[in-house]
Amino acid sequence: MWRKFKSFFPIQFSKETIFTKQIREFKHLTCTIRKAEHGDIRSMLAVERSVYDGDVPWTHSAFAFEMKNRLPHLYLVVEHEEKVIAFIGCRIKNKDAHITNLAVEREFQGKGIATFLLNEMKRFAKRSHASQMSLEVRFENKHAQMIYRKFGFESQKIMKNYYESQEDGLVMVYPLENLS
Ligand SMILES: CC(C)(COP(=O)(O)OP(=O)(O)OC[C@H]1O[C@@H](n2cnc3c(N)ncnc32)[C@H](O)[C@@H]1OP(=O)(O)O)[C@@H](O)C(=O)NCCC(=O)NCCS
Repeated sequence: MWRKFKSFFPIQFSKETIFTKQIREFKHLTCTIRKAEHGDIRSMLAVERSVYDGDVPWTHSAFAFEMKNRLPHLYLVVEHEEKVIAFIGCRIKNKDAHITNLAVEREFQGKGIATFLLNEMKRFAKRSHASQMSLEVRFENKHAQMIYRKFGFESQKIMKNYYESQEDGLVMVYPLENLS
């Protein structure tokens, strides 16, 4: 996850990325996957709070900024029974499709939701002519690292004291060129 914003960024308007709403089953769990809207931010914060034990690594304004970023970007939410249970975000810069944020509520983990969302981002990255996907993950977050590795991400470098908590971050990349 990209570290928390440290300063104020002026909001700039972006081109809209198109995403057609989908309905999917994840191990008998029927979910709707759709593009996130400004009105979803509170629900996305609630998902963050639930997976990070009350902490919110990203604030309302950080999400609002990213969802209006002038760089190509895509934020998706997963809903089950009209409640947001997961989300992902990605932003393209200089051929890098950066996964800014990914979280799945605890009771819905292990059903393939994150893998599905990462595949959607891979599609978006390819459409956007990116040559790789990248992300940062807390060095201690071995569970997420295991899932990213399973998907095909590789460790690239450690960033010392990257997070506000002074935890180190691990940069992971997934090459897109020459892949099907
Ligand atoms: C990391 C996270 C997003 C993964 O979401 P998820 O929906 O549970 O992931 P998936 O169900 O797609 O699992 C991916 C793979 O890992 C496996 N897996 C998931 N949980 C597992 C577990 N506890 N033990 C072993 N394997 C597990 C799955 O079986 C799947 O493998 P498969 O493709 O071979 O079937 C989720 O755990 C989460 O939100 N964590 C808290 C927030 C966080 O750490 N975000 C990342 C910040 S960078």
